Amino acid sequence: MAEVSTEPLHIKTSEIIAEKGEGPWYEPLFSDGRNNTGLICDLPGTASDHHWHPDFDEFWVVMKGNIDFDIGDYPTIHASKGDIMSAPAGKRHQMMTVGDESSVRLHISKIGSNHDNKNDRSSTIEPFPDQTEPPNMLHNTLPGLIEQMGEPQWVSSVIQNPLNTANLIYSAPGTPHNAHWHPDFDEWWTILQGELTWDLGEKRPIYNVKQGDIMFVPRGLKHYILTHGDENSFRFAITDSKGLHVYQEGDEDAPPPRE
Ligand SMILES: [Fe+2]
Ligand SMILES: [Fe+2]
Repeated sequence: MAEVSTEPLHIKTSEIIAEKGEGPWYEPLFSDGRNNTGLICDLPGTASDHHWHPDFDEFWVVMKGNIDFDIGDYPTIHASKGDIMSAPAGKRHQMMTVGDESSVRLHISKIGSNHDNKNDRSSTIEPFPDQTEPPNMLHNTLPGLIEQMGEPQWVSSVIQNPLNTANLIYSAPGTPHNAHWHPDFDEWWTILQGELTWDLGEKRPIYNVKQGDIMFVPRGLKHYILTHGDENSFRFAITDSKGLHVYQEGDEDAPPPRE
């Protein structure tokens, strides 16, 4: 397992994608102590190996291009840039890059996961689950969530399982929120739309973060996040499912934030 960083990380996936080219390639990114993450680039017309994981729900963010996801024996789902996909534990998955450009997906997978459990797709296709709202939809699109949730500001728990809670946050430029910190877990965000800043306190630089970037903030560091520019922002926040202690200035029980 990769070491979990004790310092903030600002990862510009668009630069990695431009540098590494058409693919296929794999770029490991970081571990947050529960998940390993990385970018997977595939050429049009190619499919990943089909496999399943008995012990965790896997999820992905499509960062570039178009991908057809076969999950379990459900009908094929067509996903494109900005979509968040999830495959429940026990459900096989296979991804096929379609269209005329390479695809890139960010994977979020339990540490130590393997690809050893193979299972062919059944010849009988199951109907989609009845569920129409998060959490744990197989396919989440930003326009679909805007239709359900409306104008900013809102937070939707897109993924909720024993390992992770992953929230999608939609914010208008300039919307204030309270700086806070989490003593027990590292938090990280993938920016799906817009431009934001991360202010981590007086002694640290302000990070300018935009669509395609990933920001990782280690436990205990105070963070104040603000949307800039003319566009509403979407950030996809990956957190622990248990240690959700959030402290703000003025909380009597708050342990001090890290410097
Ligand atoms: Fe997998
Ligand atoms: Fe936070």
